[in-house]
Amino acid sequence: MTSMTGRHESTSNRPMTNPASFEAMWADLAGVGRSTCTAGYRRFALTPEDVQLREWFEQEAARRALDLIVDRAGNQWAWWGDPDSGPGVATGSHLDSVPDGGAFDGPLGVVSAFAAIDLLLTQEFTPARPIGVACFSDEEGARFGVPCSGSRLLTGALDPDSARALTDLDGTSYADAMAWAGRTPHLLGADPEAMARIGTFVELHVEQGRTLIELGAPVGVASEIWPHGRYRFDFTGRADHAGSTLMSDRADPMLTYAVTALAANKQARTLDARATFGRIIVTPNGINAVPSEITAWLDARAESPATLEALLKVVTRQAAERAGRDGTKLKVSVESWSDVVRFDVPLRDQLAAVLRGAPVVPSAAGHDAGVLSAAGIPTAMLFVRNPTGISHSPEEFAELGDCAAGVRGLADVLRELAG
Ligand code: HGY
Ligand code: MN
Ligand code: MN
Repeated sequence: MTSMTGRHESTSNRPMTNPASFEAMWADLAGVGRSTCTAGYRRFALTPEDVQLREWFEQEAARRALDLIVDRAGNQWAWWGDPDSGPGVATGSHLDSVPDGGAFDGPLGVVSAFAAIDLLLTQEFTPARPIGVACFSDEEGARFGVPCSGSRLLTGALDPDSARALTDLDGTSYADAMAWAGRTPHLLGADPEAMARIGTFVELHVEQGRTLIELGAPVGVASEIWPHGRYRFDFTGRADHAGSTLMSDRADPMLTYAVTALAANKQARTLDARATFGRIIVTPNGINAVPSEITAWLDARAESPATLEALLKVVTRQAAERAGRDGTKLKVSVESWSDVVRFDVPLRDQLAAVLRGAPVVPSAAGHDAGVLSAAGIPTAMLFVRNPTGISHSPEEFAELGDCAAGVRGLADVLRELAG
């Protein structure tokens, strides 16, 4: 076990060679929240799966005698060395998923962080600065709609009253879900003490794209994260009979939605941006009834905030025009917004050098690292090659050899930054 001073007295019963500890942790997590139908994961915030994942994190911290701290935003931290002895080097990611998500998005960063510590222990390394493993709560925002709610609460980017009031599709509030999970809603909030412990943050993540495949590299370093927003579109029409109502007599919100979805797709292609309507709710959702209401969520991203704003402007204008023609009403609300993140350049280049010239690649996917960077923490990201290039799907994948390369790379980076 590892004493508080980081001196390594005896090995845990887990083989300390890197892939073995990695594989054992991976196997422990594999079944949590996994759908028997789709083989995808459903690991949403403040659910039984979340409770199981948090217990797993506690066990892995205890196995290494790391200092476990839960911050006021509900994020878990496992510290090697006294976390209040001065700003340390933190790594880690998240364990929650999107509906039917893949196994690697999030967990790869948390498991690799513990495996990197195992590797450093076998190398008799003793950090001069504390090393922390973070597990951020609710990174995907799959249940309550706001991505990175844990890291945004931690940094103060999301205020606790707004968070407590968020509701899921069943109408359960974030506050009630916290109470169900045995957490204390009224203590929710920013945590300057937890922030003061983070001198540098490095997140390892599976690549959600094909750049590393095309470059033939197992590991890359992130240059930036694209700006992205989530927008709620409410289309209100008039419920009516699917058979007896003439087409000319309808105020059909499905039509307005369909034209809006096509407009978003066209604009994204034109601007080389990204636009996705991934969730839609039809009311009353009857096969033989013209809907009264359609609620649809647009996830939009682009290389620059200006491009993203241009896309939203055109799509909203065309949706409003179509609503005028269809006799429906439109309401658009911004549910979350993340500005462009440009990672700390010296840190980025230092990591690329430590990783012997690993390529520097942008990310159109959002991460907690982006939230910490926006809060002024020197931050970097490592990506591990994903041979499918697919993410937010059971198809998401990373070869064990590339995962081991990621762990070795992360251990080298931690040695460099905390040595
Ligand atoms: O949606 C994203 O970009 C991230 O996976 N949360
Ligand atoms: Mn994700
Ligand atoms: Mn992720």
